[in-house]
Amino acid sequence: MNFFNTAGKQAATEHMLNPAGPAAARIEEIWWEMLAVYGVVYLVTLALLFWALRSRRREKLPGSRFVLIAGFVIPTLILVVMLIAAIHDTMELGRGEPGFRVKVTSHHWWFEVQYPDLGIVDANEINIPAGVLTDFELHSHAVVHSFWIPRLGGKKDMLPDHPTHLMLMADEPGNFRGTCTEYCAGPHALMAFRLIAHDPADFGEWVRLRSRTPEEPSDPLLARGREVFIKEGCMACHAVRGLSESSTGPDLTHVGSRSTLGAGTIPNSEGALAGWIANPQTIKPGNLMPKSYLLPEDLHALTAWLWSLP
Ligand code: CUA
Repeated sequence: MNFFNTAGKQAATEHMLNPAGPAAARIEEIWWEMLAVYGVVYLVTLALLFWALRSRRREKLPGSRFVLIAGFVIPTLILVVMLIAAIHDTMELGRGEPGFRVKVTSHHWWFEVQYPDLGIVDANEINIPAGVLTDFELHSHAVVHSFWIPRLGGKKDMLPDHPTHLMLMADEPGNFRGTCTEYCAGPHALMAFRLIAHDPADFGEWVRLRSRTPEEPSDPLLARGREVFIKEGCMACHAVRGLSESSTGPDLTHVGSRSTLGAGTIPNSEGALAGWIANPQTIKPGNLMPKSYLLPEDLHALTAWLWSLP
């Protein structure tokens, strides 16, 4: 299965007609209802048009009363009924008492993920318990982005200075693709994330693992990597819990356990991480991380240390 947002390689199952949660299931129903109703309207309109074109004698055609009813009254009734149904369903989708909270802030061009009740910060990967209604509090650092996990529900804009909320639930454990759906310039098309829904019984273990603060390594290679991170200025942009705090770039406390690099651009591995640090512009052109000019030994040590982070 391909989890990644690499151009032209999207997983074929990651669409809104393959719902994995109650909000997406309702949206799929609305989609089919609209297709059915408007499909019938379209076919009836075509049939009437065909009939009118075939009719040679004008006097056989119905008069203005028919045009008023079929061309105005009936379409208005259909549109009003569909609008009321859609507004009702949209309001229903936002209801419910959430059992879990996640705060997601969009940056140029990645997602900061915070768990306010757990004190955990991560990036480009959201973890939730399956079967639990989750409140996504959405923010933007600058400009408008939009948050969409097609298999879980509708999308919601992420605005600067105005939090928005989206209530989603995954029925079963799984791994779902999410993406920015509002054009935000630069590598907008490579601004994605993964949402991982865990078995609720295993979620406590995930919380325990992600709550650890990385220790100062005793291994000489890892210790050198940590030194490179400090001396080469990585911490000016990146946070690692217990070491640095900047949120200009993604928090790296858990980078070793994330499934992608560059906000869903490529699968994560130790080799990919080294390639990303060496020249991220070849992988995700236009992103804000500059090319690095590290000595090969320093690059090796830095990669090894980052890869070792929990
Ligand atoms: Cu962020 Cu498009």
